[in-house]
Amino acid sequence: MKIYNICFSPTGTSAKVSEAVSHGIAERIDGCEIVNCDYTRSSKSVKVNAEDIAVIAAPVYGGHFAPPARKRLEAICGSGAKCVVIAVYGNRAFEKAVSEMMEFSKERGFTPVAAATFIGEHSYSTASTPIAAGRPDEKDLLIAQRFGNQVGERIVAGISNEVDASEMLDEPSPEQSLRYFKEFIICYQKMQSETPRSYLPEVDKERCTNCGTCAQVCPTGAISADNLELDATKCIKCCACVKACPEQARTFFTPFAKPLSENFNARKQPKFVIAG
Ligand SMILES: Cc1cc2nc3c(=O)[nH]c(=O)nc-3n(C[C@H](O)[C@H](O)[C@H](O)COP(=O)(O)O)c2cc1C
Repeated sequence: MKIYNICFSPTGTSAKVSEAVSHGIAERIDGCEIVNCDYTRSSKSVKVNAEDIAVIAAPVYGGHFAPPARKRLEAICGSGAKCVVIAVYGNRAFEKAVSEMMEFSKERGFTPVAAATFIGEHSYSTASTPIAAGRPDEKDLLIAQRFGNQVGERIVAGISNEVDASEMLDEPSPEQSLRYFKEFIICYQKMQSETPRSYLPEVDKERCTNCGTCAQVCPTGAISADNLELDATKCIKCCACVKACPEQARTFFTPFAKPLSENFNARKQPKFVIAG
């Protein structure tokens, strides 16, 4: 049996979770092999056979299964294989992401037998506006591995039915935080309708050593390998370039960082369900 560890993960948090879950599954199934399929920067078709299992992890963008992840993962095909869907979010909310990933996996020919949500450091997190900084941490990854162990045990026991993830709901945030954040969104939308402004990652030319890391990690090829110029039409604002820059020369200012940091600082916990 093969375990396909499939992810789209610009800043690496979804990849860490899917790796821990895949290993957890493998620990309970004798003689299985993990096949790593990272779709962050490329998209090659993969057909997962019916007897194999796929772990599919992607970030949450705007409460949804991140659209660039969905697009990339259209290259996977399940042929009836079981899968585990994992939505990784930045401690605000996952909203519709799990149900969308469940639907997507079925459209691609998989049977989702387990679903999970984990918390990853928010793409917009910075030293001055931390949002779930350092997550997934050791505790999260232990939960991911144990979740994988349980999935592996159920697979050995013969589960084949679809999991009911309808009760996987967001952990409530304090009412006051939700109110403040809603007020911020209303102000932001008003500001954008009056004076539209597009925020993009920027480069501090003094710090940049032209090492090219930003161009290498960009999932969409938005940064030219020749002159490191950013093509705004291709940028998905995932912050891969910001997090990977060894000189902290790339930064992304977004007005969302401060309200997210202020209102979603209470630690949320991973959640999961496995078919009975
Ligand atoms: C454009 C964008 C939208 C996001 N929307 C949400 C969101 O709605 N809720 C949330 O909690 N986190 C949100 N995040 C944070 C990511 O889900 C989180 O940082 C995730 O761990 C990133 O995964 P990756 O490391 O695999 O790229 C968003 C990030 C980006 C870049």
